[in-house]
Amino acid sequence: MNISGSKATVIRRGDYQAPSYQVSEIALDVRLDPDNTEVHTRLQLHRIAPEPVAELHLDGESLELLGLQRDGQALAESAYRLTEGGLLLLNPPEAFILESRVRIHPRANTALSGLYHAGGQFLTQCEAEGFRRITYYLDRPDCLARFTVTLHAPQDSCPVLLANGNCMATGVEEGGWHWARWEDPYPKPAYLFAMVAGDLAVVRDRYRTASGREVALEIYVAERDTGACAQAMDSLKHAMRWDEEVYGREYDLNRYMIVATDSFNMGAMENKGLNIFNAKYVLASPETATDSDYQGIESVIAHEYFHNWTGNRVTLRDWFQLSLKEGLTVFRDQEFSADQNSRGVQRIGDVRRLRAAQFPEDAGPLAHPVRPDAYSEINNFYTATVYEKGAELVRMMHTLLGNVPFRKGMDLYFERHDGHAVTIEDFIAAMEDANQRDLSGFRRWYGQAGTPVVRATGSYDPARHSYTLTLHQETPATPGQPVKEAVPIPVRMALLNTQGQRVPLEVVGGASETVLLLEQSEQSWNFANLPGPVIPSLLRGFSAPVRLQDSLDDDAHGFLARHDDDPFNRWESMQDLAVKALLAAVADSSVAPLPITLRNAVAATLADRQVDPAFCAELLTLPGEDYIGEQMPVVAVEAIHRARDGMMRAIGRHFAKEWTGLYHDLAAAYQRDGLSIGRRRLRNLALAYLIAGEGNSREGAILHARQQYIQADNMTDRLAAFQLLAQHRHHDAEDVILDFYQRWHEYPLVIDKWFAIQAAAPYPKTLRQVEHLLVHPAFDWRVPNRVRAVLGAFAANPTVFHAADGSGYTFFAEQIRRLDDINPQTAARLATPLSRWQRYDAPRQQAMVTALKILAGKPGLSRDLAEVIQRSHP
Ligand code: ARG
Ligand code: ZN
Repeated sequence: MNISGSKATVIRRGDYQAPSYQVSEIALDVRLDPDNTEVHTRLQLHRIAPEPVAELHLDGESLELLGLQRDGQALAESAYRLTEGGLLLLNPPEAFILESRVRIHPRANTALSGLYHAGGQFLTQCEAEGFRRITYYLDRPDCLARFTVTLHAPQDSCPVLLANGNCMATGVEEGGWHWARWEDPYPKPAYLFAMVAGDLAVVRDRYRTASGREVALEIYVAERDTGACAQAMDSLKHAMRWDEEVYGREYDLNRYMIVATDSFNMGAMENKGLNIFNAKYVLASPETATDSDYQGIESVIAHEYFHNWTGNRVTLRDWFQLSLKEGLTVFRDQEFSADQNSRGVQRIGDVRRLRAAQFPEDAGPLAHPVRPDAYSEINNFYTATVYEKGAELVRMMHTLLGNVPFRKGMDLYFERHDGHAVTIEDFIAAMEDANQRDLSGFRRWYGQAGTPVVRATGSYDPARHSYTLTLHQETPATPGQPVKEAVPIPVRMALLNTQGQRVPLEVVGGASETVLLLEQSEQSWNFANLPGPVIPSLLRGFSAPVRLQDSLDDDAHGFLARHDDDPFNRWESMQDLAVKALLAAVADSSVAPLPITLRNAVAATLADRQVDPAFCAELLTLPGEDYIGEQMPVVAVEAIHRARDGMMRAIGRHFAKEWTGLYHDLAAAYQRDGLSIGRRRLRNLALAYLIAGEGNSREGAILHARQQYIQADNMTDRLAAFQLLAQHRHHDAEDVILDFYQRWHEYPLVIDKWFAIQAAAPYPKTLRQVEHLLVHPAFDWRVPNRVRAVLGAFAANPTVFHAADGSGYTFFAEQIRRLDDINPQTAARLATPLSRWQRYDAPRQQAMVTALKILAGKPGLSRDLAEVIQRSHP
């Protein structure tokens, strides 16, 4: 029993058992109706277990069974039993054909798992366990079968009928209906099944693979969105080319389809040949999408495309292996984006995301290994740990092996496992066997939760001209794992002389950069014959997902912030300076908000004409409130906010001339190249500093922002100005907020931004405002993007969500409670910030735990939310 009083079934990794039967063919016949859809399924089953079994379990959930036949005969009542989780076939024969007819209700399916009807379309989401909500089946990733599906629907409401693979035949039938039959030649697990029906327009293109195969590319969207698919289509073609060039992998069907929908729980889904996407990662035009929206599309389109090999051709044995496809595919999409854009800026963004989402997860009650040991609802494990930390583990192997050996390992992995359902162990083994390398330490990385802390100390010996570096590692305990072992940590490093140049390292034959492998809890290295004193640049490129304590002083960080030639480390030094200053201001509000070392570093950055504007913007962006809080034993909510505000104001004032200069110099007509994107970013940062520095004045910067809001020829600039105005303490932006809504109310993705920016305003009155937003006519509890825009932004609003009186928590819990009845998956995910209660002061802790308890007592609590609550407060 637990806080929620339920005894959810726990699935354990160690309990894995191979299936006793396999399905060789599955044929579905689906008559689509929003209220009553009928699914007729024909399964060809045969036993693979050596001995006969007493029962065979087929998964099924929320299905209304209409009929069941075995080898053409109605199945006797004594030959099966309906259970809570599906259907038990009793004493099944060695091989047989099972036919079932079920009824399901797509319109009532607001959980958006299985077959659902939203925005006039029929869509499916089968990962992880949605297929069992369509028909009785062996809904597990190690059951690979050939799928055929025939869709029937009214021709007028659903002119387009799609499923995986190739369209084999179409026809019309009476009553204005029509049908289409699709066949997927590649055996696949049910989680990769998809079908779509609706009134969709299509944008077409073609791609010729390296070996000369012609592939039809099709993006399905609403008619009025056909003009907004160029970025998605370009990204797809670039991703296809990149996977050929970098991994030697080609696409394997004659057509690649992408469907966009406003109603989607996650980002996108890699169904074989028929990806289904959250519209956010497909649609973009300069007027409606920001530069970061464009980048999001590029990376998610690539991510889903890359899954065709890492996920689909080679799939998972069981859900504990999720990171086998997700971590690896995130690594691949990050590298793709790094190759398309600026590698340094890409890495900074990736690490920022890792630290914002994964580090806190790894430090709290929801911590779990990249390969988890147990779950009750697998959808709760689509986490930053499985995705982003998983990608870091692959990246570390890549770092240690090098490019060519890593590629050799990947080739062997595909050669061995194409068409199979495998494990993380198989992946590591392929990397080892291809290169005769021992990577056994990585098995610990996959099995051990928690973020290692690496402490570095070093000293220069002037008499010997040598530098000694000592590295120490330690991983804090996490729930269920009190004792941790050392893990292999690649530390990319260089030594810089006092001019900021890298010095040759004798131990590595004179190269000026190397990767040290820290495998024990403590190790030392000696660098001899140095030309003079040096400053170490450690963990370059963030070569391992650890917290580094480098024991360098402010002067050293100030030096590195100016001279380090590793973009990540240069940025990191700047962050370190800022964090230190902020923590000092948090501890003592009379401390100067802009200490001299930081001020000099900012001045040097502003004066450096060499840095590219995107990187410059990264250097000059202060760490977020959450990240500052992460560095404290107890998060000082208000003091952090005040300190950061104060530092913004001080930098804004002190460099007012520079910011004004940048703001005017960087003005330019809209273009989409990387340099222009960086310039926009830096210019909008300048505007933010100008507004912060100006205090209450309604002249100057505010006026610029109002002008920019009105005159912008693109959404990046318009939204940046809108956000500054809408979140300004003393400025009444009612007119702008109204104007924005009126201009964009027909564009859901833009209106999501409108909701989110209001929910993120850092003032007590925001709570009231959010209450209003929830009853706004454009708010819809059934659309996850909209719910996330309001409740997600609210929970990420430090001073409002964590208001000292607990009002934020109480309000939030009420909304999650309501959402749980509609969409448990989204409710459970949104609720995770409550798990961080241990990080706050006693009154807040109490209020957060009370909120968790309110949720725990909800009648009809979903398994999804129950698990999050239970783990948050065991
Ligand atoms: N495999 C998808 C991806 O590319 C995520 C789908 C997750 N869906 C879910 N309901 N858990 O990352
Ligand atoms: Zn994925």
